[in-house]
Amino acid sequence: MAIVINGTEYPLPDDPRISLLDLLRERLGLTGTKLGCNQGGCGACTVIIDGTRVLSCLTLAVQADGREVWTIEGLAAKDGQLHPLQQAFIEHDGLQCGYCTPGQICSAIAMVEELRRGDPSYVTADLTEGPMGATRHEIRERMSGNLCRCGAHNGIVEAIEEIMAGGAA
Ligand code: FES
Ligand code: FES
Repeated sequence: MAIVINGTEYPLPDDPRISLLDLLRERLGLTGTKLGCNQGGCGACTVIIDGTRVLSCLTLAVQADGREVWTIEGLAAKDGQLHPLQQAFIEHDGLQCGYCTPGQICSAIAMVEELRRGDPSYVTADLTEGPMGATRHEIRERMSGNLCRCGAHNGIVEAIEEIMAGGAA
């Protein structure tokens, strides 16, 4: 029973009731992933498991057994260079207090993969058109599970648009 987090293998907790969020923050000291509502409503706790975004507050750590988890701490390159989306958030003022930012960035990275796969969203008009374009409307809908109480959503969307246009996500 083990979980790989940001490329490092960790044993799973012996208590099966522990959430992935609590494992990250309380047991492993990976406090980049934030605790917001703790009930699936804000997106602050979003991490990536096997390429898919998940809410770590609603995920038991044991559900990640044998899987690969990425958190905000694992996104920068080993030489310290920020992930392109992290850099774009800075350049587009996609944050103010920064509390929602780790969840926003993890969510956006996995969201771009959803677009590449051609997964439809609630606002996708025609499912027969194949992979949809990354319109601002699409991005807003797909990021609607990540709330920002500082109101940095315009900068967040602009940052995502920039890296999607450059193919860097
Ligand atoms: S803390 Fe998980 S969705 Fe709010
Ligand atoms: S930057 Fe403050 S909550 Fe989003």
